[in-house]
Amino acid sequence: MKTVFGISEARSIVKQWKKEGDTVGFVPTMGFLHEGHGSLIKKARENDKVVVSIFVNPLQFGENEDFGRYPRDFEKDCLFCETYGADLVFHPDVSEMYMPDFCTFVDMTGLTQNLCGASRPGHFRGVCTVVAKLFNIINPDRAYFGEKDAQQLAVIRQMVQDLSMDIEIVACPIVREPDGLAKSSRNSYLNDEERKAALVLSRALKYAENMVKEGTKNSAEVISAIKRIIESEPLAHIDYVKAVDGLTMKDLEIIGPQTLIAAAVYIGKTRLIDNFTVK
Ligand code: PAF
Repeated sequence: MKTVFGISEARSIVKQWKKEGDTVGFVPTMGFLHEGHGSLIKKARENDKVVVSIFVNPLQFGENEDFGRYPRDFEKDCLFCETYGADLVFHPDVSEMYMPDFCTFVDMTGLTQNLCGASRPGHFRGVCTVVAKLFNIINPDRAYFGEKDAQQLAVIRQMVQDLSMDIEIVACPIVREPDGLAKSSRNSYLNDEERKAALVLSRALKYAENMVKEGTKNSAEVISAIKRIIESEPLAHIDYVKAVDGLTMKDLEIIGPQTLIAAAVYIGKTRLIDNFTVK
């Protein structure tokens, strides 16, 4: 496995592979990798070559968010990528990704106005801009994203369609801890008490999933059941609980196939997200 830092070096390695007829799968990450990322890398092995980028993107963090303290462990991440079978780790520097005169952004309307986009203004502008840049650098055939960030996945699909990018976006299921907590790099912020409290999120969503399976179609009913469970946990503070169309991210009153039920909850100071899509 190769590790490169420079944009032109990464680009020329991938160009050479493509010249030789290899297909390239790409897994963009912010590092501090866990089995959720591992499942993306594994799936990306359906290509001849796999590239993983590790870049904590300052553009997608708000002023009062956790950019400075976002967990980082590059050496461990490289070992992880090697174990999962990546061929190239691309770890660019902020100064090369965003030169002092940088002034071009990918700004999406519509899909980004609800859910995390409403709570984190500018977040998806940062995500779209960096992912568009990474796509331009790596030029992959396929790119892999986790369903835990369901809105991000929908936004990236829309961006690829709107900007006519010739890249297949592949969605991979949420990977959970044995007790149900969705894997996330931010879980590392939780102390023991918070880690236990965080289970309320997956528990509430599981309860809601059963309600829907048993026939409840009214969003308000399902949302209030989720809220009631989460509010029973003193360390939890709800950011949002929503039922939306899985493609447009618009609020829905009636739940149907492809409805996304999503929640963001603070456990102490740590903001966690989780969701399920109605089959
Ligand atoms: O999901 C993430 O880790 C990030 O939002 C991404 C897609 C790597 C862009 O920085």
